Amino acid sequence: MADVAGKGLFSVKTVCIVTGGSRGIGRSITVNFASKFPPGSLLIALSRDVEQLTVTKTLSTKANPAVLSVTHAFDQGTLDQQKYEKLFQDTLQGRRASDFQQAMIVHNAGSVGSEFCRNLTDVSQVSQYLNVNLAGLIALNAQFMQVFKDVPSKVAVNISSGAVNRPVASWGLYCSGKVFREMFMRTLALEQPNIRVLSYDPGPVDTKMFHTEGIQETKAEEHVQALRAMAKKLLAPDTTVDRLIAILEKNVFESGCHISYFDD
Ligand SMILES: NC(=O)c1ccc[n+]([C@@H]2O[C@H](COP(=O)([O-])OP(=O)(O)OC[C@H]3O[C@@H](n4cnc5c(N)ncnc54)[C@H](OP(=O)(O)O)[C@@H]3O)[C@@H](O)[C@H]2O)c1
Repeated sequence: MADVAGKGLFSVKTVCIVTGGSRGIGRSITVNFASKFPPGSLLIALSRDVEQLTVTKTLSTKANPAVLSVTHAFDQGTLDQQKYEKLFQDTLQGRRASDFQQAMIVHNAGSVGSEFCRNLTDVSQVSQYLNVNLAGLIALNAQFMQVFKDVPSKVAVNISSGAVNRPVASWGLYCSGKVFREMFMRTLALEQPNIRVLSYDPGPVDTKMFHTEGIQETKAEEHVQALRAMAKKLLAPDTTVDRLIAILEKNVFESGCHISYFDD
């Protein structure tokens, strides 16, 4: 591991990949992380929406012109081996992994996919959910570990949810998917003690996911009511990302652990 022990995770030249960088929490992570990294760092934002990624790129370049911001169209649910294998070649912009002292990946992309468990009869709907939220994350994470295996310091952040703590009616895919992701991250931390691994629950945040996939598309009426009540006190994306940055800067968390925005 690079000599970053005891140092904040924004102190060295870093290549940082953010999934779901087109809006919401992912855009805020991309822009605010860009502002923190030292010159020569590289921020790579992935998502399907090229137009919105361009907006993210403009904002992150404005936040820190000394950090190169790159965007790349990427559907995490399309499990094409070649696409996964070529992704980092395509996004490194001629740089090599060895140009960086640290590699960081933020697994932020996600979807809710609200449906009652008893109604999940459509196998393509189920597998699409699992591909985007689980299989795609696993494959991307492994590519990241391979491509950057010789980079001295590595960090993997999983954007989690309070839904890991309790079942929510009609969110069976979401709750169990987030639990799966956390256990996967804990296993990664166990296997590779030299990597810093964190699952961060951002709290309720004012994003498209909360309003569209949450309030508008949630099937369980009692949960819609709960979301409506929560909507009165949503966090801004930058507020929760500031907290994430503070955790990474302090860099004293136990690798593999879950930390919520609301934790002390
Ligand atoms: N908002 C909240 O209250 C809240 C609470 C707890 C946890 N979270 C978690 O925070 C993360 C970000 O959510 P958000 O609230 O910022 O939602 P959002 O605004 O809807 O953003 C979701 C992001 O995921 C990307 N994404 C979705 N499907 C994708 C796919 N197939 N391939 C690649 N990217 C894909 C989207 O990109 P494209 O559509 O451009 O591809 C978008 O950038 C999620 O993991 C969510 O579970 C959110």
